[in-house]
Amino acid sequence: MKNIAVLTSGGDAPGMNAAIRAVVRTGIHQGFNVIGIQNGYSGLFQERFITLKARDVGGILHQGGTFLGTSRCPTFKTKTGQKKAIQLLKQQKIDGLIVIGGSGSQSGAYALSQLGFPVVGIASTIDNDLSGIDITIGVDTALNIALEAIDRLRVTASSHQRAFLVEMMGRNSGYLALMAGLAGGAEAILIPEVKIDPLAIAKKLRAAYTRGKTHALAVVAEGAKWNAQALARYFKKNRKLGFDLRVTTLGHVQRGGIPTVFDRLLATQLGAAAIQSLAQGKSGILWGWKNGAIASFPLSQIILKKKSLDLTLLTLADILAK
Ligand code: ADP
Ligand code: F6P
Repeated sequence: MKNIAVLTSGGDAPGMNAAIRAVVRTGIHQGFNVIGIQNGYSGLFQERFITLKARDVGGILHQGGTFLGTSRCPTFKTKTGQKKAIQLLKQQKIDGLIVIGGSGSQSGAYALSQLGFPVVGIASTIDNDLSGIDITIGVDTALNIALEAIDRLRVTASSHQRAFLVEMMGRNSGYLALMAGLAGGAEAILIPEVKIDPLAIAKKLRAAYTRGKTHALAVVAEGAKWNAQALARYFKKNRKLGFDLRVTTLGHVQRGGIPTVFDRLLATQLGAAAIQSLAQGKSGILWGWKNGAIASFPLSQIILKKKSLDLTLLTLADILAK
């Protein structure tokens, strides 16, 4: 194996750059030529291949986002698209591909490996929705940003005796909302994994008011059946919370942060491990963080399952909010 390509795909995540840097520099150390594909799977179709030397990945370790660019590419979801992608990779004499991305991107990586192309995945998404992986690249940074926002909102909420609905990203996963809510001392946490009764939430916030709290924070996952706007409408129409109500949607702010030490170390180790796998002729696998260390799993095992959350943490958050 001589020529290795690397791409970033799906939502950017802080730490992706550290992973690219590790892939490039450990790849060169192994004697590979490393080629970057710009803008994810879309860039592959547009043949946006660039040779990456050690100096090309200087000064990116501390930057969020991905200097290679990323995209969502519907064409790649089709068998025809995937076959075309392999043809283009072979045309460039690329012998192996490293895909840095989340669950969708790794489904794409799995599809390529099913078609016989050597691919190694690196688990990277702020959503942390890859089953079997404890923490993906970007999660720690996104959680810290969310937590800082919650801390700031609590200050102004307390000053005005207000309730805040704080909406977090996470697509269909409630992981970010659950963890940020627990760490931020939220009075209520709403996630897609648990059925939501808006009346019960209203009563919870009202009870916090009656107990003499100066603020109440409800952390809402964007994928929850009742998102922040819908809940706010419900509260305005049907319920008096005691508190005045405001809504804050964190959105993409959560994705743009400077990667934390955890994300940089994780990304660096996963990038090096992915190269090591290709050097040893191993592919069809995904590298991620599991039980306090980096580990690899067959892509097939990860892609086909939905990640579950520890819902006992919701009960703990409730007890702590008293
Ligand atoms: P993420 O990787 O962050 O979860 P997406 O779900 O948007 O982001 O996926 C990124 C890209 O991966 C998609 O735009 C598409 O090109 C590819 N992809 C997603 N799902 C699949 C799938 N089931 N099969 C093949 N490719 C997929
Ligand atoms: O997958 C990462 C993520 O930030 C999700 O949390 C969110 O639902 C989605 O991407 C937003 O996508 P876009 O950046 O295309 O608006």
